[in-house]
Amino acid sequence: MAMEQTLSLIKPDGVSRGLIGEVIGRFERAGLGIKAMKLLQLTKSQAQMFYAVHRDKGFFDSLTGFMSSGPIVAMILEGEDAIARNRELMGATDYRKAAPGTIRADFARDIEANIVHGSDAPDTAQTEIAFFFNSLEKV
Ligand code: RTP
Ligand code: MG
Repeated sequence: MAMEQTLSLIKPDGVSRGLIGEVIGRFERAGLGIKAMKLLQLTKSQAQMFYAVHRDKGFFDSLTGFMSSGPIVAMILEGEDAIARNRELMGATDYRKAAPGTIRADFARDIEANIVHGSDAPDTAQTEIAFFFNSLEKV
């Protein structure tokens, strides 16, 4: 296991449903450190840049419309094995397949509006962190 940083987003549905504290509390209780955090709203073109890896998928337009539909919370989480541990806390993309007790199993009711995003590998974590935060915005 290595000390890692990962990018976490609370998506527009998580913010509008009042789940910011709930989600951050789970990260804190799991021992993940918060190294940066802000509330912001993406434009559609910024959401398209962020999710460029999915540009050929049928859900790309809907996903980027959803992701730019309201405020989100962006965070850098840090800890041992933080990338995989954050994804364990999130649960599977499809809430119907997410393990009990995960964020998506507990709160998501839609495959797209699934409360949280988390980086999936060290290289994407670095790219995604740089997309949201400059050096003055992190501790
Ligand atoms: P994320 O990137 O948001 O952390 O989620 P993930 O790795 O679990 O899932 P990914 O395959 O990267 O998909 C990104 C997001 O696109 C939406 N999605 N919709 N309609 C669909 O079939 C579908 N599939 C994925 C979800 O919001 C998913 O989190
Ligand atoms: Mg993903």
